[in-house]
Amino acid sequence: MKQSEINLLLNEAAECLKKHNWKLPPEPEWCATDFGLGDYEKAGLVEVLLCNEPEYCEKIMYARENMVTPCHTHYEKKEDIIVRHGRVKFTLWNKNPEENKAEGTVEIKINRKMETKKSGEPFELKEGERVTLTAGVWHEFAPVGGPALIGEVSTYCNEEIDNVFADKKVDIFQAPEADEKVATPCC
Ligand SMILES: [Fe+2]
Repeated sequence: MKQSEINLLLNEAAECLKKHNWKLPPEPEWCATDFGLGDYEKAGLVEVLLCNEPEYCEKIMYARENMVTPCHTHYEKKEDIIVRHGRVKFTLWNKNPEENKAEGTVEIKINRKMETKKSGEPFELKEGERVTLTAGVWHEFAPVGGPALIGEVSTYCNEEIDNVFADKKVDIFQAPEADEKVATPCC
């Protein structure tokens, strides 16, 4: 991903946070990724890490309409993904969809109540709603109808060893292409 694209997305995220009156702590930890797939409008996400403690973690994230966080699961992390602003389409699978046909169901907590979703069938959550994802549930999400602010509250986040993406081409640690200076947004 180009540094200029990162700068653009971080600025956009900062504007969206400001517009929706989200206050960030001093020196927030920003990052933007295209998941190493080279087209951030298709697959991309901005994350602001608010805290990451051994017992819990909190993030606020931003994505444009249809910018997908591609299908992945976690070995250990349990996370609530919360629609803070906008609408978000989620798809869940009980097995890696790259290796298995989507079939069967996923038992999942939505807004604190257990629900049964069909594996591989998208559903939408609106502002204020949340899904509780346990380790092993494959998940993908993207804003619909406009950009979204998406919260995450989880157990400890260890991206280096705990994230498993269905698409083996995904690389969230790819170094940015330095076509512009790093610009931290002010928020
Ligand atoms: Fe996740």
